[in-house]
Amino acid sequence: MKRPGVWKMLMAAMCVALLSGLQAQDLPRQVSIILLGATGDLARKYLWQGLFHLYLEEVGKGHHFRFHGTALTSTEQGQEVIAKVLESLSCPGDMASGHCAELKAQFQQLSEYRRLKTPEDYLALSKDIEAQVEHEGLRETGRIFYLSVPPFAYVDIARNINSSCRPGPGAWLRVVLEKPFGHDLHSAQQLATELGSFFQEEEMYRVDHYLGKQVVAQILPFRDQNRAALDGLWNRHHVERVEIVMKETLDAEGRTSFYEEYGVIRDVLQNHLTEVLTLVAMELPVNVSSPESVLQHKLQAFQALRSLQRHSAVLGQYQAYSGQVRRELQKPDSFHSLTPTFAGILVHIDNLRWEGVPFILMSGKALDERVSYVRILFKNQAFCVQSEKHWVAAQSRCLPRQIIFYIGHGELGSPAVLVSRNLFQPALPSASWKEVEGRPGLHLFGLPLSDYYAYSPVREQDAYSLLISHIFHCRKDSFVTTENLLASWVFWTPLLDSLAHEVPRFYPGGAENGQLLDFEFSGGHLSFSQPLPEQLVPGPDSAPLPSDFQVLRAKYRESPLISAWPEELIARLAGDIEAAAVRAVRRFGKFHLALSGGSSPVALFQQLATGHYSFPWAHTHLWLVDERCVPLWDPESNFQGLQTHLLQHVRVPHYNVHPMPVHRRQRLCAEEDQGAQAYAEEISALVTNGSFDLVLLGMGTDGHTASLFPQSPAGLDGEQLVVLTTSPSSPHRRMSLSLPLINRARKVAVLVMGRMKREIAMLVSRVGRDPKKWPISGVLPDSGQLVWYMDYDAFLG
Ligand code: BG6
Repeated sequence: MKRPGVWKMLMAAMCVALLSGLQAQDLPRQVSIILLGATGDLARKYLWQGLFHLYLEEVGKGHHFRFHGTALTSTEQGQEVIAKVLESLSCPGDMASGHCAELKAQFQQLSEYRRLKTPEDYLALSKDIEAQVEHEGLRETGRIFYLSVPPFAYVDIARNINSSCRPGPGAWLRVVLEKPFGHDLHSAQQLATELGSFFQEEEMYRVDHYLGKQVVAQILPFRDQNRAALDGLWNRHHVERVEIVMKETLDAEGRTSFYEEYGVIRDVLQNHLTEVLTLVAMELPVNVSSPESVLQHKLQAFQALRSLQRHSAVLGQYQAYSGQVRRELQKPDSFHSLTPTFAGILVHIDNLRWEGVPFILMSGKALDERVSYVRILFKNQAFCVQSEKHWVAAQSRCLPRQIIFYIGHGELGSPAVLVSRNLFQPALPSASWKEVEGRPGLHLFGLPLSDYYAYSPVREQDAYSLLISHIFHCRKDSFVTTENLLASWVFWTPLLDSLAHEVPRFYPGGAENGQLLDFEFSGGHLSFSQPLPEQLVPGPDSAPLPSDFQVLRAKYRESPLISAWPEELIARLAGDIEAAAVRAVRRFGKFHLALSGGSSPVALFQQLATGHYSFPWAHTHLWLVDERCVPLWDPESNFQGLQTHLLQHVRVPHYNVHPMPVHRRQRLCAEEDQGAQAYAEEISALVTNGSFDLVLLGMGTDGHTASLFPQSPAGLDGEQLVVLTTSPSSPHRRMSLSLPLINRARKVAVLVMGRMKREIAMLVSRVGRDPKKWPISGVLPDSGQLVWYMDYDAFLG
């Protein structure tokens, strides 16, 4: 990736050259615009109109233009399509029809169609532009290539532009690209690298058409112009939640070959809704008209996004979708797609402004209405003494207080900015925004329209017209830079990976969806509000059903075994840990809990974080059973998992939290840094007799526990309390409590979950004590109690 500072400087220099330097020269200037894919859907619907709009805006200001519509279609066919499109162009409503007709005729004259396929075609185009410019006594100041083509064509086109169609010295090149920009981080990176080998960063304009929506483009100016009112309000102390929503009534019929590969998260959330999210969440630059500052602040907003977990999402799919895919993609009758057409996502932002504020992103096809908006709902801390009938919209602090960036459609039918009257009267530029006329009976977000200050654009403009104008004016902040694109994929890719095999909830579509897709959040989790009426029909050999068992109590390796379905098992274990904590605090004033990492305890941490209000966290010391030799902020770090799923939700005094010192003197687990000894000393100093009140362990499929691995003698016996070990899987270096230390605990709980553990659970049930082969078999507290917690998948298979 290029250094941002460098391209910013280049960009600024080029814009200044365009706007000022060139004025010094006498020759009239020409910009050539080459639209690739000029006969396609997007071009016919929006891009030609946007180009015409640019012409209307700029033609009186000394610019000459030429428009070259290009495609792979033959010249005759292409000309026919383009002629029709040009005929249908419209002028703004307030333009006199005679003037409109005149300008339209000029625009038609300046536009041509040509086939652009081979490298020779590109060279010919370039030569023709040069000849035309010279012939007309003009000076070429720049070329815009608008690529309205599928992404697989980008690289060839880029190569051709770069090798044979760049404008001459002194003129700029801008290449406009339409999404998708990759499918995940890896493919986005690959595409970015390829494009980067042909173009400079400042030459590329990646379109996200949401950034051209008038209301979206107004978010930053609105925040800027209302700084005085918003400064104190735009933060976690006042904002209850932010909703960023794009609902659609249409489904994916006719587009399933694209949609099957992308789904709603890649199609809409990774780009449109994320762009909007950053505009709301980013720190406001001092100068919002500086594209560099805006882009830089946006990037910082990305960096503060908390990683998404599997439980940050709910997914749905409209019922007709799989059938449409089967028809359109000729799939067999047995084919069922898992592609989500609906998603709700809960995003958190880890910075001081937004910590704890839920940002809900939601989009779906085949829903009950078409509407897009951002809703910022403020907390209501007021108590109103007068009864409701005396409340006055402009004054009562008890009515909902919200700001809505109404992006479009919906009941209002037009873009608008709405601010509750009990909040403040916003300032919007009066030349371009007007008050919305009253619409008696219309309620929006729980309030009558009259309870809002409501403004809509004086002249509605489609997103592409605005963006084309911003390309011409070098407004880079309305586009997606490589850095921001990759930052967005860094955020979304892990979630997409973790959801790859998730079965979405099926919904009938439209109004019939009822409450089926409603969702709610608690403790960082999203879940559908309504349980699905599931039908479990057991076959003769089917696995046992939940109703077949209560919690099963038995023995495993001579110790008590508790077995249940996962949810019940976790609830039971969490309850047992809380009971142990309460007992220990009552007797000794503190509770020493040593926790293991990995994926099995995540659900337990979450359960403890959300469902155990009487847990004596203030008196609990948290220790790690083992750690990977990575920095503590690394997502692979066990401490990081503990932090994400538990610590940030509960109030443990920070001096009671004892991460393993794997990272000392900027080195990881170096013997000479004596991290293991330091941890042992800390334990000896704080934990009476080195006897933890409770140690939570897991069991690996090879029989390892903590970070004590088979065939590796470290930590299996001897005096050492804490040891450095080597894992067969990466990261290889580990730090672990030793077996003798673990066995000093008052209670050891071993949590074993999932079908993958079935085999080892069987094996370990039969073997004797042989920690060299199966370290878990060496767990047997000297005088404490050992309890096995196994879910049915691990225990019964
Ligand atoms: C596009 C998506 O980017 O945005 C479509 O590919 C979606 O699936 C469209 O329908 C929505 O845009 P708008 O402007 O209609 O809200």
